[in-house]
Amino acid sequence: MWARSALSLSESTVPQNVQSAGRTVRIGVLVSGNGSNLQSIIDHVEAGKLDAAVACVISNRQHAYALERARKHGIPALYLDHRSYPDRESFDAAAVAALREHGVELVALAGFTRIVSRVMLDAFPLSILNIHPALLPAFPGSHAQRQALQHGVKITGCTVHLVDAGTDTGPIIAQAAVPVLDTDSEDSLSARILHEEHRIYPGVIQLFAEGRIRVEGRRVLVDAGRETVNGSLRNPQF
Ligand code: GRF
Repeated sequence: MWARSALSLSESTVPQNVQSAGRTVRIGVLVSGNGSNLQSIIDHVEAGKLDAAVACVISNRQHAYALERARKHGIPALYLDHRSYPDRESFDAAAVAALREHGVELVALAGFTRIVSRVMLDAFPLSILNIHPALLPAFPGSHAQRQALQHGVKITGCTVHLVDAGTDTGPIIAQAAVPVLDTDSEDSLSARILHEEHRIYPGVIQLFAEGRIRVEGRRVLVDAGRETVNGSLRNPQF
């Protein structure tokens, strides 16, 4: 069973195992757009690289290409129009009901443009992931790649984190660094970051499936099982 906890992530210092190992985790993916991260998760599942199944995909945008991707793979694809709900909480309650109906245990936000309310957070404690195209806590919110270019950083990247009540503020599980090149446009930088997103999001999902993630306050600890890297990343090279 998934650990259920009402503790605030930022206040808890007792290690909490996020998931127990040894079975297929049912994922619900929330999307609003293209769905390349969804595709990467589906591809990893179909290649037998994840102890997980995509149980359903929910979009708040009717024409999100992500829904099409899900249907092509026989995955239940639902459209919930947020404009037809009076508030964030009632939209989330409908999403939670659909996720429960499909037996979802882990929720993965993948280009989902809505902030989740307490209704969603309480329904899936320590079990909602998000991917963000920057090295958080730098450049939270929209247009993270544009923010990175405008600020002039030399290294940016992507982050998978647990979702809490803030915007891109939850405990960080994994990050990958991507150099910013002098020739980069927002598009070229985004494409290179996406390449890493498609690698680390499935990686984190597998860590969950293997029960190797523990949360201790703001720190997410990953039980041994992989080699550790002690080097550093530099950009530019000199
Ligand atoms: C990604 O850059 C992700 O980090 C951000 O939204 C984008 C979604 O892309 N949250 P896609 O829909 O998965 O292609």
